[in-house]
Amino acid sequence: MASSMDFLAACENRRSIYQITDKIPISDARVEEIARHNILHVPHSFNATSTRLVVLLNDEHRQFWEFVKEVLKPQVPEDQFPKTVEKLDGFKAGHGTILFLVDPKPVQKLQSQFALYAQHFPGWATQSAAMSQYHLWTALEAEGLACNLQHYNPIIDQKAQGHWNIPQEWELQAQLVFGGYADGAREAVDKGGKQQQPVEERLFVHGSKA
Ligand SMILES: Cc1cc2nc3c(=O)[nH]c(=O)nc-3n(C[C@H](O)[C@H](O)[C@H](O)COP(=O)(O)O)c2cc1C
Repeated sequence: MASSMDFLAACENRRSIYQITDKIPISDARVEEIARHNILHVPHSFNATSTRLVVLLNDEHRQFWEFVKEVLKPQVPEDQFPKTVEKLDGFKAGHGTILFLVDPKPVQKLQSQFALYAQHFPGWATQSAAMSQYHLWTALEAEGLACNLQHYNPIIDQKAQGHWNIPQEWELQAQLVFGGYADGAREAVDKGGKQQQPVEERLFVHGSKA
């Protein structure tokens, strides 16, 4: 079994990378394999298995970002739209987008089975979907890919549902965009470092025997 050092190093390596290309160092089959691992091993409260993944690759990925452009065009002031297009084309330049959705059916079933926790199940389903996002983001970056996480829901939901046969009741919660690193993208992120509130103000340990 891999040591926890590998896992921690993968967590440390994960960053938001926006300068991406469509050339990735692994096959589409390997991306699918990692997505299957995600579906099989990310936990859910009461084992609800409510997360759904839709993996869009190559032309399907590019189509998704064209749809986002179409939907945003009437909503963004005309003079600001070129900037929006530039941003969206940055995502489109990647290789794939993974949609994270929540199927409300298992959530509702648990709500009726366990009335005491009913109000918590939707939040727990969102937390599980977020675990899925973190798993894939970290795993793909460990394979040498560059990723960033986006939220064009709910404006894009209807178009995506229609085009990729996604059930209407599934709630889109996030989109993970991935690709290869554009030249210098990793170095720029590493050089920039990360502004963070001091650890001492965020981590509290009691009872350690070191
Ligand atoms: C729950 C969540 C939502 C986020 N939403 C977005 C988003 O909509 N667009 C975006 O560009 N980045 C988004 N991010 C990325 C964060 O801005 C980023 O992770 C954070 O600034 C730390 O940078 P790092 O990812 O390089 O470590 C999100 C991250 C999380 C955890």
